Amino acid sequence: MVLEQNSNSDRQKGKTSHIEKELVRLEKEDLYRQINIFDVEKESTLKYNEYRILNFSSNDYLGLSKNKSLLRQLNQQIRLQISQCSSRLISGSSTKIDKLEKSLSSHRDTQSTLVFPNGYMANLGVLSALGDKETAIFSDRLNHASIIDGCKLSNSQVNVFPHNNFSILVDLVKKNSIKKKIIITEGIFSMDGDFSNLKELSKISKENDCILIVDDAHGDFIVGNNILKNYSGTPSFFNISKEVDVHISSLSKGLGCYGGYVSSSTLICKYLVNKSRPFIFTSALPDFLCELANKALAIVKKGTRQKKLYDNIDFFHKIIEEYKIPNVKKIRFSPIIPIIIGSEKKAMGISMELLKKGFHVQAIRYPTVDKNKARLRISLSAEHKKHQIHNLLDTLNRILK
Ligand SMILES: Cc1ncc(COP(=O)(O)O)c(C=O)c1O
Repeated sequence: MVLEQNSNSDRQKGKTSHIEKELVRLEKEDLYRQINIFDVEKESTLKYNEYRILNFSSNDYLGLSKNKSLLRQLNQQIRLQISQCSSRLISGSSTKIDKLEKSLSSHRDTQSTLVFPNGYMANLGVLSALGDKETAIFSDRLNHASIIDGCKLSNSQVNVFPHNNFSILVDLVKKNSIKKKIIITEGIFSMDGDFSNLKELSKISKENDCILIVDDAHGDFIVGNNILKNYSGTPSFFNISKEVDVHISSLSKGLGCYGGYVSSSTLICKYLVNKSRPFIFTSALPDFLCELANKALAIVKKGTRQKKLYDNIDFFHKIIEEYKIPNVKKIRFSPIIPIIIGSEKKAMGISMELLKKGFHVQAIRYPTVDKNKARLRISLSAEHKKHQIHNLLDTLNRILK
């Protein structure tokens, strides 16, 4: 397919032959990626070619990206300016950004917050600023690509510990005599849907003088503290928010908006303003997105959407158990449910079959996950109806047989 798509003149160009060769290799190994186009239709269905489908691959866990009241306010918000057209430290900062940062500080119970253009850049921005040659970063093996790339950009010594294996982490931390140490994990892991045990991790960080960073892109706004009745993410879920030195998150998942943020002490935020190149050298997040994120945050605080989501998660597990579909871990409150298939080809085939039957469930392959650990990553939303979840699992069950 790669060869077919390239024009003859492209093929004649010797200087790009290695690029073509690599794409052909990816295709042979079932690792070739291409962009598929999905357009949102009314009633929250998606249109993909001639298919009308339900989306089970979005990170819009609370359904806020299509919230009617937020959409109605969009025109009002965008009246004055589309883009900031400048970086934060030139002329891009505004009262709306400042207001969102204050709201997020109160959401995370930290002194300060910095909004970044997205979560990917927030990870690059924090790690590249806080790490250097005299720093060791201890990073969970399943951490997101943006954390891996941030580690590389930081020039730190990187120590990867097996997923959630804290005894090996402690060994690595203790035998390392370097002065500055950072531990970084995700709150809810993006491709496995499981939690990091932050209670234990915060203890390890404290005992060993490590800076603890939690990227909570998938737990934020979804889980929180039952007693405090907040949805401030996994640190709050484990009741250790104050032990986390740097909270990193995305506004593009549970909040249904766009952007990223870092909440921390005033000291660390001041340091980032001065040292974080992905913060300094790019245009600011537009005002209208900040305003909408602020309004979405107010909806999140009510907690009604989370209850619907938890209900859907419980329902999903009940039905999947009835169908006895194998290789699914039951994790309460996690909207990410991977079904491990193994072979990349098989996972792609099942995903395509589901698409033809009206369901979009993306197959996730290497390098996002390990080779031969390809999976269907189902993500649930508060917007899904019970009969839609039931139909998905019924169809999947028939395909798997
Ligand atoms: C754990 C994690 N961190 C960061 C990001 C990047 O966030 P954003 O999409 O806002 O760039 C993602 C995106 O999927 C993620 O899964």
